[in-house]
Parts: sequence; structure tokens; C-alpha cells
Amino acid sequence: MTKIGVIGLGYAGAAICHALINDSLIDELYIYDLNKNLLMAQRNDLAQAAMINEKIVKVIPAEIKDLFSTDILINTASAKVTTSDRMAELSANKPIILDLFKHFIGYKGIILNITNPCEIITKLIVDATKIDPKRVLGSGTILDSIRLKWAISDIYNIDPNIIDAYAFGEHGVDLIYAFSNTTIAKKPFFTYLKEHNLSYDEETFKDAVVKAGSNIFKVKQRTEYGIANCINFIIRNIIKETKTILCIDAPTNYNGKLIYTARPVIVLQDGYLKDADFTFDEDEKHKYERVEAKFYQVLYLN
Ligand SMILES: NC(=O)c1ccc[n+]([C@@H]2O[C@H](COP(=O)([O-])OP(=O)(O)OC[C@H]3O[C@@H](n4cnc5c(N)ncnc54)[C@H](O)[C@@H]3O)[C@@H](O)[C@H]2O)c1
Repeated sequence: MTKIGVIGLGYAGAAICHALINDSLIDELYIYDLNKNLLMAQRNDLAQAAMINEKIVKVIPAEIKDLFSTDILINTASAKVTTSDRMAELSANKPIILDLFKHFIGYKGIILNITNPCEIITKLIVDATKIDPKRVLGSGTILDSIRLKWAISDIYNIDPNIIDAYAFGEHGVDLIYAFSNTTIAKKPFFTYLKEHNLSYDEETFKDAVVKAGSNIFKVKQRTEYGIANCINFIIRNIIKETKTILCIDAPTNYNGKLIYTARPVIVLQDGYLKDADFTFDEDEKHKYERVEAKFYQVLYLN
């Protein structure tokens, strides 16, 4: 019996629930939002949607105490999103998260955060819950990695199935493309481009990947489907212990202090296991060190 909880039933939370009930992997979905009218409306909409599926996932409106029986708890709670600048969400989201997660001290499952700024909020959840950081994860750059895959496929008209793409660092402006580990038809990214006489234009990639979220947000005032499928993918890989490499937020030490960074890691049912065995090039390492320093600054020096 797999029980998943989702906190926050706005755009992202609802889309995640929709992806989860349609994948039929889980058995029960516990949902929670401060807004009780929204909670019941989303519960009814989702429970009715589930009726058409062969396996009917049970959708249960929850109180905080009910969420303690879940295996994985997904956090999407946030103040109303008014900007695509993720770091700018911190001042409004920090008090919400610290106040909400102090109720989860003693929670035994895995917490998976998507609320922005993702790496910082994930660390604040550890502060509030005192849970072992290995069991607190953030969605990090998994969405940016699939956006990179999409961009490569779209820009060069290449079948996405032969592309393995990774992005790391920050789910934000300091996103780093891991081109050293990105391959097309198993060939290193730049080798493939050279062999096929293709050129790389940084601005085109920036617009397609780093600015992907803000380009969507400008029109829709939200992003939802990409993150929903990414969360479902993470959940599937945790439950099945596939040991797939996931570019997500995981704990690390910087100057002797806990921070979270987005990077390729392997997770099991009891949380973060280890970093994937990637070798980054000097430029990528340098950019990553700058990201670590930035998160340390935001968390400990501001
Ligand atoms: N990491 C990613 O890739 C990614 C992708 C999309 C959205 N996001 C982030 O996810 C967050 C949510 O985005 P959204 O578009 O769904 O926002 P939204 O405003 O539609 O939904 C937020 C929900 O949180 C609820 N909420 C607020 N405080 C709560 C509390 N204390 N307890 C329970 N529920 C509470 C609100 O009632 C609301 O329903 C934002 O921070 C957004 O930037 C991250």
C-alpha cells in the first residue's frame, strides 16, 4: 500500500495529483490545503477523474495529522506566485514553510519539496522538521534537465529518445548545463554537434532552458505540467528503487553547514543514497562552487 501526501492544491499541487492518479502506481492520495473550499473542490474533481481509470486511486482530504501515515509527502504550499523570479518568492514563502513544517516533527517518510526557491525552501523544511536531511529532497533541476533535453531535440530536430541531458546547480538563474555528461546517441554533446556540423548558440539555449519557466509564466501566470510529470517520475523511481540518476536537491555540506544543491544523485525508499558518479569539467565545477557559495550566503549570512 503506497500512500502519498500533497500539501498545497493550487496549480502545481493539483497537476501533480492528476499525474499521480493517472499513473496508477500509488494506492492512496492524501491532499491538504489551508483553503478548505479549494481542498474539497480539488478532491471531488480528482476523485471523479480517477473513476475512469482501471485502478482507482483513493483521493482523501486530509488534516495535518493524517499526513503522518504517508510514505512520501510532496510540498507545494506557497504564497500566491506573482513573479517568475524564484528567489523573490523567499520572503513570502519562508514564514509559511517554517510555520507549516513545525507540525511535521517526527514524520517518518520522505518529504519532496517543489516550492521556490526550491533549494532554499528544502533546507528550511529540515530546519522546521528536524528530520534527517537524507529524507528531505527538492525537485531541483529535474525539470530543467528535461527542458534541456527538449531544447536539444527542438533546436537540432533530434529524436529526444537518443538524448541524455543533465542540468544542475540551482533551479533558477544559476542553472548549469552539464554538457560534459550530456550525450546524443551516446556521444558527448559537443562531439555530436561537431560531427554533424551543428553550431551551439548560448542565447538560444538560455531562452529555451533557463528562461523556459519565465516564458511560460509570462503568459499562463503558472507552470504545472512539466513539474507534475517530473514529480511523478521521481516518486515512481523512489518507490521502485530503480537507482535512476535524478537531478534533484540533495543535502551537502558547505563551510561545515548544511545546504541543498541540485545535482545528479541516486535515491532509495529511505531517501538520498549517494551522488551519481559524474565527472564535471572545470567550468561546470567553478559554476557549481559559485552556486554553493550563493546558497550558503542566503541561508547563513543574510
Ligand atoms: N520546482 C519547480 O520546478 C516548480 C514548478 C512550478 C511551481 N513551483 C513552485 O511551487 C509553488 C506553488 O506554485 P502554484 O502555482 O501551485 O501556486 P498556487 O498559488 O496556485 O498554490 C499554492 C497553494 O498553497 C496553498 N497554501 C499556502 N499556504 C499553505 C499552508 N500553510 N498549508 C497548506 N497549503 C497552503 C494555497 O492555499 C494554494 O492553494 C510556488 O513556489 C512555485 O514557484 C515550482
